[in-house]
Amino acid sequence: MHVTMIGTGYVGLVSGACFSEFGHEVICVDKDASKIERLLKGEIPIYEPGLEDLVARNVEAGRLSFTLDLAEGMKNADAVFIGVGTPSRRGDGHADLSYVYAAAKEIAENMNGYTVVVDKSTVPVGTGDEVERIIRETRPDADFDVLSNPEFLREGSAIEDFMRPDRVVIGAESERSKDVMRELYRPLYLRETPIVFTTRRTSELIKYAANTFLAAKITFINEIADLCEKVGADVQAVAKGIGLDGRIGGKFLHAGPGYGGSCFPKDTRALVHTAQDYDSPLTIIETVVKVNDDRKRKMADKIIAAAGGSIEGKTIGILGLAFKPNTDDMREAPALDIVPALLEAGAKVKVYDPESMGEARELMTQDGIEWCDDTYDVIEGAHVLSFLTEWNQFRALDFDKVKKMMAEPVIVDLRNIYTLVDLSELGFDYHCIGQASRLRK
Ligand code: UDX
Repeated sequence: MHVTMIGTGYVGLVSGACFSEFGHEVICVDKDASKIERLLKGEIPIYEPGLEDLVARNVEAGRLSFTLDLAEGMKNADAVFIGVGTPSRRGDGHADLSYVYAAAKEIAENMNGYTVVVDKSTVPVGTGDEVERIIRETRPDADFDVLSNPEFLREGSAIEDFMRPDRVVIGAESERSKDVMRELYRPLYLRETPIVFTTRRTSELIKYAANTFLAAKITFINEIADLCEKVGADVQAVAKGIGLDGRIGGKFLHAGPGYGGSCFPKDTRALVHTAQDYDSPLTIIETVVKVNDDRKRKMADKIIAAAGGSIEGKTIGILGLAFKPNTDDMREAPALDIVPALLEAGAKVKVYDPESMGEARELMTQDGIEWCDDTYDVIEGAHVLSFLTEWNQFRALDFDKVKKMMAEPVIVDLRNIYTLVDLSELGFDYHCIGQASRLRK
């Protein structure tokens, strides 16, 4: 099959490369000349484990190519995917659909023969109808179907998520278009992946319902963690104890500093707005959004409390800045709230992240941040050391060395990568999420 992928951001590039790995001929199109130039040289604009090799292998095999020219990209297209960004619109939190609609118009102008237009970007319910309307208006003679096929890719494991998904959701209303999708996803059929065919509007909503549910699940365990700290319980044991109930499930019950990233914050806000527009408010998700926003700011207070109530003139070491490990993505990362709050409280802040230092420097422009070269550089002279992202390389530190290097042995572990028992025994004043900070005698 011939596939055109519009947008070489996270979703477009990963999906395009994976479809080419399935054996289809894929052309990725983007308007950003510097991005296409880099891709043509074999450079990958984002950090995603395995993506560079996957792209190189399929380019070499002649199944994957990149172009700025949509007309060329759509010459033989059986299916055109829209994988452009849908950022939160400034001011009102609605998803900004201008890139999606612009893509629809251009697709219409370049269509030849029956074409399946598939929306992979996360879009509010009804966007497919509008895409269809735009195409019909631009090219009344066109033979096409508009489908919804949301992505459920996690950054850091996006390729695995594409190749071995829990399910594929397809919103399609004609048999002809369903056949094209069956052919595209044939390797997954052979692996018996559940493929959910439904209506376009239902498919659009499934994506938001999935992400907002997961955001609510995380927020639930985060609030339980706060309660655990007060009553002397252990949130990790609570998560295990409830997660073993098959109705609840153990995933996404890891308490932390609040969810971030390119999807959960944006999608929760967008669904809240959609629900309000239809006069069917999602009060539970409205609360999730508020609790999560407040939580990130409260994490700075936790660090200040661990330092004895004031960090004026003290040095705080921060390990990890990205919103989660295995990505360089800083979008809505808790660090963006925590670090400025620490600076405002009068501290000097030393930071290090294995992948996101470049992006972080652009977003955190305040005075008083020391950008360190490695983990131990951060630790040197710190009065408090705090883990904000659970990178593997932070999981096995030499704590004898850490203790000697720190000004005071205080650790605030916002990702629970160590344990109270172990670090207390090593002589640290250890604070984590969802556990009292003193061992009970
Ligand atoms: C998410 C969805 O998982 C994916 O299906 C969707 O298509 C895009 O959004 P992603 O944002 O890449 O993927 O990361 P994810 O692993 O879901 O984590 C999101 C945030 O939740 C991170 O900040 C992470 O630290 C936090 N999280 C996740 C927790 O705090 N606890 C958990 O148990 C899981």
